[in-house]
Amino acid sequence: MTKLINFKIIEGEEGSLVALESLKNVPFDIKRVYYIFNNKKNIKRGHHAHIKLKQLAVCVSGSCKFLLDYGKNKEIVELNNPGEGLFIDHMIWREMFDFSSDCVLMVLADSFYDEKDYIRNYEEFLKGVK
Ligand code: TYD
Repeated sequence: MTKLINFKIIEGEEGSLVALESLKNVPFDIKRVYYIFNNKKNIKRGHHAHIKLKQLAVCVSGSCKFLLDYGKNKEIVELNNPGEGLFIDHMIWREMFDFSSDCVLMVLADSFYDEKDYIRNYEEFLKGVK
């Protein structure tokens, strides 16, 4: 399951602000935050699913696209708005592509980094989904 979440944007004379809070507008307890930037032209990232990890991706600058593969069906979602986040549940294969040169993709996660939680083989992912 994935879900687009619209955040409340606090508009001031100085500019805009979004606050992300565990179990409030973020549907899990935030344990880790990382961000992806300086992506080279025409690259793709991701190519994996997670056994347990839940994540929320926010494109805080620029734009990028996600291929979301649920095993039975797939969809492409573009993120280009710092006021929205893409929640990605566990067991969803994702590939990220079409990064704009100014793209900063911030990801919030409900666990620390653990390579054992990754499924990097697509056939193994399809077996796991069933
Ligand atoms: P990876 O998750 O494969 O990146 P992407 O799917 O965006 O291409 O991670 C790339 C490298 O960074 C890999 O060597 C693991 C490391 N890494 C960490 O050390 N900590 C983290 O929180 C993440 C997400 C990755």
